[in-house]
Amino acid sequence: MQNQLATMLEEAGREIEACATANDILNTKAKYLGKKSLLNGLYGRMKDLEPSERPAFGNLLNEARQQLETLLNAKSSAIKAQSWKKENTDMDFSMPGMPSSRGGYHPLSIVRRQIDEVFISLGFEIAEGLDIEDEFHNFDALNTPADHPSRNLADTFYVEGGRLLRTQTSTVQIRVMESYQPPIRIISPGRCYRNDKPDPSHSPVFHQVEALVVDKGISMSDLTDTLQNFASIMFGARVRSRIRPHFFPFTEPSAEMDISCVACSGAGCRVCKGSGWLEMGGAGMVDPNVFDILGIDSEIYTGFAFGLGIERIAMLKYNIPDMRILFENDLRMLNQFRGEL
Ligand code: PHE
Repeated sequence: MQNQLATMLEEAGREIEACATANDILNTKAKYLGKKSLLNGLYGRMKDLEPSERPAFGNLLNEARQQLETLLNAKSSAIKAQSWKKENTDMDFSMPGMPSSRGGYHPLSIVRRQIDEVFISLGFEIAEGLDIEDEFHNFDALNTPADHPSRNLADTFYVEGGRLLRTQTSTVQIRVMESYQPPIRIISPGRCYRNDKPDPSHSPVFHQVEALVVDKGISMSDLTDTLQNFASIMFGARVRSRIRPHFFPFTEPSAEMDISCVACSGAGCRVCKGSGWLEMGGAGMVDPNVFDILGIDSEIYTGFAFGLGIERIAMLKYNIPDMRILFENDLRMLNQFRGEL
């Protein structure tokens, strides 16, 4: 039996040495260490030996098995290393890696975040609204008459179930006043939709940020102060602001807000079309009718609201001449404005 074992070890040694693939290793392993292997058979035949010879022979068998395992493992590693080398002979590990380009934030995201921060620093909270709204929140509760042209199919995108894509963030004024009692001091940035053809200053999707302040004793000067604070922080201390009379159904009195041109400081240039002023959005004192619809006592509370166009601000900050650039997402363009939040 010992001779058999020695011959088997020799043979196995040669066969393992001759292995060329991982598969060869598996087969050889099965042949010499598997259930039907000679080695396994010898374990079974130990009972034929004198009891006194069994321990020594058992040791021999164990040693043989260990020897075979060691040889197989060594050969298997050698094969792996070999094939890895073969596959990689064309590689030059000293070459620099592929350049990976870093992403940046979209100008609208950056500006929106800056606006959030300005108003948070002025004590406002951020309220969220809905993109898909109903006529009540987009028109009725905002004191907009049934025959107002803005309700027209030509201006507003209607969706199923009498719903619509909000045309203004003023809807959030209503949602906030439905749920909270004054004092209220919120802004709400978000998307708006209007049935406009894209051109340098229009897009069917655009962004506004709404502001609403309701409390006892709020007056028009709180509105102009807030506007001036915003303009100074956003565009620099030298920027001036003004309001002009206008009309909105949900504010009385209503106004349009301007800031002095950030390109020419008010002297008149191409950006401000010679006027020295840039339009920022609509504003006004909350119409008592709106308070009445929402059950807020207009004898006790007053408030102001305004809506700023975020594209306008981004275009001014980044010197972008055409609103469509903000939505086409051409990387060659966006890469020029890439920035941090
Ligand atoms: N929602 C108005 C618009 O889209 C702007 C506005 C907001 C006016 C708040 C007054 C008060 O034009």
